[in-house]
Amino acid sequence: MKNLTALSLKTIQGELYVLDQTLLPQQQKWLPCQTVTDMVAMIKALQLRGAPAIGIGASLLLAYRASMGDSREQLLLDAEVLRAARPTAVNLMNNLDSMIAALQQADFKTAAIDCAGQLFAQDVQLCLNMAHHGAALVQDGEQLLTHCNTGGLATAGVGTALGVVNLAHQQGKNIRLWVDETRPLLQGGRLTAWECRQLGIPYQLICDNMAAMLMARGQVDCIFVGSDRIAANGDFANKVGTYSLAVLAHYHKVPFYVVAPHTTVDLACADGSAIPIEQRHADEVRGVSGAFGTAIWAPEDAAVFNPAFDVTPAALVTGWVLDTGVYSQADIAAGVLKQFA
Ligand code: MRU
Repeated sequence: MKNLTALSLKTIQGELYVLDQTLLPQQQKWLPCQTVTDMVAMIKALQLRGAPAIGIGASLLLAYRASMGDSREQLLLDAEVLRAARPTAVNLMNNLDSMIAALQQADFKTAAIDCAGQLFAQDVQLCLNMAHHGAALVQDGEQLLTHCNTGGLATAGVGTALGVVNLAHQQGKNIRLWVDETRPLLQGGRLTAWECRQLGIPYQLICDNMAAMLMARGQVDCIFVGSDRIAANGDFANKVGTYSLAVLAHYHKVPFYVVAPHTTVDLACADGSAIPIEQRHADEVRGVSGAFGTAIWAPEDAAVFNPAFDVTPAALVTGWVLDTGVYSQADIAAGVLKQFA
């Protein structure tokens, strides 16, 4: 396997490493990932997270196992174990399907290594394409808002929604970014803020419940978010809290864009109600943890509802920024997503 480098994943001399995102921004610790058990645990714990990144990480792990001499039968079993690691991001399923197809070839070891490398390179290119299409929507002087983390940490490349913001910034547009902290796991406060700092993007961190006030004051010109799965009718799942933002944006007439590669489109889901939504551990809502330690502020047995994602109906979306272009409500209603069958 050749050396590959992303913000949260890298291969060095055939070995796979994952940047532990649960420790950011306080610590930057790269963990070796050698077994399917390692990879599943890292994905479940969100040490590796973000829809494209988990698909590519799982593929690289299979390629690594193939390079270690595991049998085709074992690798096919492992692919199914990896598939079950998280249910909502369809990129994981799509990438594993590509790996399974590669494993059918006579020289399955070489095919698996090549396939994982191609998925990595493809994601880098898809991110660049999305950034190009999305940045064209951003005007000089605008105040943008984003939710969760959709940057280099979540992909092999420059990211999805954050890639758009970053390119607009690189183009010299005088933009500012409101970063939702993104309760409960604070991907915005911990990860997007960290990436913005590294990229020099002017940003201000807000608690999720401050976005409404900013929109009412006219201080949000445009919203860009990512997605874990886009249904055939344009409804999409993304980090919980995205739907509230879309409702607020609709009320305040703020343009609201979803940015995702075409590999996030799932035509098997006719609409958003078919997208499986991951439920996570109650302690994530009872308190918070990270490199700074753990704090539980709720009663330790407090009953909790903790969906990791919510679904935003297509009716609330201004545009779908994919690697192939920007699509309007009319395009989506005309079935433009069917090209990704
Ligand atoms: O639970 P997470 O942190 O994996 O959720 C990530 C998101 O919701 C992102 O917006 C999505 O994966 C798209 S990122 C390119």
